[in-house]
Amino acid sequence: MKRPEVAFFFKKFTDLNTINPRIIPIGADSVEKLMAIEQRCFSNPWTADHFISAAGSSFVEIFGYCLGETINGYIVLYRIKKVMIVANLAVSPEERRKGIGRILLEFGIECGRRHRCNFAVLDVRKSNQPAIDLYRTLGFNVLGSNRNYYSNPTEDSFIMGRPL
Ligand SMILES: CC(C)(COP(=O)(O)OP(=O)(O)OC[C@H]1O[C@@H](n2cnc3c(N)ncnc32)[C@H](O)[C@@H]1OP(=O)(O)O)[C@@H](O)C(=O)NCCC(=O)NCCS
Repeated sequence: MKRPEVAFFFKKFTDLNTINPRIIPIGADSVEKLMAIEQRCFSNPWTADHFISAAGSSFVEIFGYCLGETINGYIVLYRIKKVMIVANLAVSPEERRKGIGRILLEFGIECGRRHRCNFAVLDVRKSNQPAIDLYRTLGFNVLGSNRNYYSNPTEDSFIMGRPL
C-alpha cells in the first residue's frame, strides 16, 4: 500500500472521522495504551505519571497513530516559546519499518510550524541508530550531546535539531 502523505492526516484530523489510518490527539484516558507500547520500546520507559502530566499540560501535545481502536505509535511534543521539543516517539515493535515513525514526526514538524515554532530539538541515545537515521532523513542534524543523559544503561545523548 502506498504510504499516505502527512497532508492526508491533517485532513482526517480536522474531519475528526474514523477513517483509517488516522492520527488523533491522545489524552490521559489513553495512557494505559501508550504505556503498553512504551514498556516494550525503552529500557528506561516513561511512567504513567509522565504521560498523565504531559497530557494535562497546555504546552504539550500527544498524538497517536491509530488503526481501528489500536494505537500503533505516538509522539509527544513540548513547546517552549519558539522551540518544539520532540520528547517521545515510539512505534510498536511489530509495526516498524512501515513509515509510521516518519509520518508521526512529519506530523509533529507541521504542528510545530502551525504553533509558530521556528526550531525543533530532541535527544536520542548515541547507540539508537534506527532513530538517528529517521531523524536525519527528516532534516535533523547533530548539534551536540548531553553527557550521561540516559540511564539503564547510562549513555550520552546526541542533541539533534532542525529549523522549522
Ligand atoms: C525509531 C522508531 C520510532 C522508527 O519508527 P518506524 O515506524 O519503524 O520508522 P519508519 O518506518 O517511519 O522509518 C523511517 C526511516 O527511518 C529510518 N529507520 C527506521 N528504522 C530503521 C532501522 N531499524 N534501521 C535503519 N534505519 C531505520 C529509515 O531511514 C527509514 O526509512 P526507510 O524505511 O524508507 O528506509 C522505532 O524504531 C521505535 O519506536 N524505536 C524504539 C523507540 C525509540 O527508539 N524512539 C526514539 C527515541 S529518541
